[in-house]
Amino acid sequence: MDIKRLFRTKKVTNGLFCETELKRCLNALDLTLFGIGAIIGAGIFVLTGIAAATKAGPAIVFSFVLAGLACAFSALAYAELASAVGGCGSAYGYAYAGLGEIIAWVIGWDLILEYGVATPAVAIGWSGYFNNALTAANIHLPQCILSSFAENAHGFINLPAAAVILLLMLLLIIGVKAGAHFNAAMVAVKLFAIAVFIIIAAGNINPANWNPFMPFGWKGVVGGASLIFFAYIGFDAVSTAAEEALRPQRDVPIGILASLGICTLIYMLVSGLLTGIVPYQTLNVPSPVAEALLRIGYRWSSALIAAGAIAGLTTVMLVLYYGLTRIFLAMARDGLLPAFFSDVYPHTKTPVKIILTSGILMALVAGFTPISHVAELVNIGTLAAFTIVCLGVIIMKHTHPELKRPFRTPLNPLIPALGAAFCIYLMSGLPLITWLRFFIWLAIGLVIYFTYSQKHSLLESNIDWR
Ligand code: ALA
Repeated sequence: MDIKRLFRTKKVTNGLFCETELKRCLNALDLTLFGIGAIIGAGIFVLTGIAAATKAGPAIVFSFVLAGLACAFSALAYAELASAVGGCGSAYGYAYAGLGEIIAWVIGWDLILEYGVATPAVAIGWSGYFNNALTAANIHLPQCILSSFAENAHGFINLPAAAVILLLMLLLIIGVKAGAHFNAAMVAVKLFAIAVFIIIAAGNINPANWNPFMPFGWKGVVGGASLIFFAYIGFDAVSTAAEEALRPQRDVPIGILASLGICTLIYMLVSGLLTGIVPYQTLNVPSPVAEALLRIGYRWSSALIAAGAIAGLTTVMLVLYYGLTRIFLAMARDGLLPAFFSDVYPHTKTPVKIILTSGILMALVAGFTPISHVAELVNIGTLAAFTIVCLGVIIMKHTHPELKRPFRTPLNPLIPALGAAFCIYLMSGLPLITWLRFFIWLAIGLVIYFTYSQKHSLLESNIDWR
């Protein structure tokens, strides 16, 4: 596909170099905070403890390095394509430019799965923390509004989970800058909570807890990496902000790489300290960070960690929900999803129809289904997207050498090939049932593509290839 013609074509609106109806108002700091907002959440506040206790022991810190490497290689590939191809469609748009429409559709459909499952699944975790906070304040909500009937015989709807998504929906409708301000405030709360943990933990280390350091061997380290990979998910959502960035070719790569770098350091510090202050066997609990502080006698700090977790989960939902709407927008503009959705409301400069539709659907899913039971679909969906982006960088180096690349992946093809290999390796560790569900989702996507999207594609039918 001729990429210059693709970008010159008026109908193609998902490239960096085209006019956008969205509002360009995000700077490099906003984007970095977006990344930190999306990354730090349930992974560090919940999964680290489970992974340390059941998979890796104190060597969980190596699991974070391993998963961090897979993400770092992929992040470099994302940074290159975000700076060269851009657009709000992220991997969907890059695949369109480099690999053709059908691969683009598959990856777009896959990203809808990633963000569309992650947001309601995190909302259910958020609801648990929120209810704990209410209980601590002696406010007791009835069971029928705390879980869905699918999860609990006494349940009907998980109202807090549905309500938080609807509140974020309103915030995203108001405008991306309002969302960015809210995100920055919440990121400050979670970073403060983490900083307090680091300071307290650093003064309470018992080196005996690190012995043995690798009780489950290297296999445990890899198993831990597949699980805590979830903790890194989210930096890719920064790339969906390319059309709302002030200087996308510079700021989007900064946002992706800076947020991932900062979070990797935080993760290694927190996981190393966590297993240094208490025996790793005690960490298999829903709130391991708070629990560890309680065990070493810091009662007050546990409430602070809970506040950090609630803020953390809120920003994860906000940024992933945002990413979902921008990918949906890119696909609707291209005609692969109904063009009805592609309107951008002139006052707020946001895609209101998409935000409303996806918000209501995700609120229903969070309120009435046990979606968190299939949360590992998020890992497989994300790893598949990362693999395609890494391969895309290698392929486009040959198919589109002329493309201006303000940021280049170093040592291409070695780094992106390593990125793809790492991602496939981590995917291979996921359970068969996850693969099965993933293929069912992709099969549904292909049926939609051949019965609707292919016939309505604006790109294929409007490009003048002469
Ligand atoms: N990385 C995000 C989290 O850990 C998805 O919650």
